[in-house]
Amino acid sequence: MNSEKLLYEGKAKSVFQGEKDDEVIIKFRDDMTAGDGARKESMGQKGYLNSILCAKIFEIIEEGGVKTQLIELNEPCVMTAMKLDVIPIEVIVRNIATGSIIRKFPFEDKTPFNPPLVQMDFKDDEFHDPMLNDDIAKALGIATQEELDKLRELALKVNEIMKKMFKDIGIILVDFKIEFGKDKDGNIILGDEISPDSCRLWDSETLDMLDKELFRQGKDDEVIDAYEEVFNRLVSDEDKAKFSIQ
Ligand code: CDP
Repeated sequence: MNSEKLLYEGKAKSVFQGEKDDEVIIKFRDDMTAGDGARKESMGQKGYLNSILCAKIFEIIEEGGVKTQLIELNEPCVMTAMKLDVIPIEVIVRNIATGSIIRKFPFEDKTPFNPPLVQMDFKDDEFHDPMLNDDIAKALGIATQEELDKLRELALKVNEIMKKMFKDIGIILVDFKIEFGKDKDGNIILGDEISPDSCRLWDSETLDMLDKELFRQGKDDEVIDAYEEVFNRLVSDEDKAKFSIQ
């Protein structure tokens, strides 16, 4: 890595300029936050687990036909990725009602959504990520109608790919959040990360939570075990060799 020039510091990742102009180096940290960053703890091994899980999930999504930012996982915690012009929209896909949607609307907890529900929130901490609609997004100038339609189409495709991927390892994909950006030609690319930090994952048999919700509920001592469970089910020995993990 040349200059280690920090471009952006997020809540759980730091983004540095890459060797090439159009590349970035993303470092996954162990930090975990909840409540708009009101609570912050360091969770041992989280950066390691999430970086490898994210690389593996992005590979599977690419195989499914959706372009991602991933170029390569250089080593655990360190990912080379395409530099993107980030679209400040959190695209949330829900297969089952829980979390903020049941606090805001009269859906009963654990009601399945058929078809899945796509929600877009404005990514802005100052305004606490308010829910968008197409007109508001266009008026804010953050996306065109064509781009909004594309985000929705891609998010549903990612949902189908991930639902199957998790089902195969005995996990229900309840909901998740993804972010997109544009490459230098204006193509919309899946960016940021996908990991147990950004998904709700339930064990298919026990319905035990295997994601960040444990942290939101203050069960800090269960978080890393849950992430490890997802890791052990998804990352094969072959993957471990590829990602240079002992
Ligand atoms: O209940 P909560 O306020 O955490 O959020 P939600 O809207 O129910 O979250 C839906 C899904 O998006 C969950 O899988 C969250 O983990 C994820 N999410 C996220 O990763 N980052 C956010 N800023 C908001 C939601």
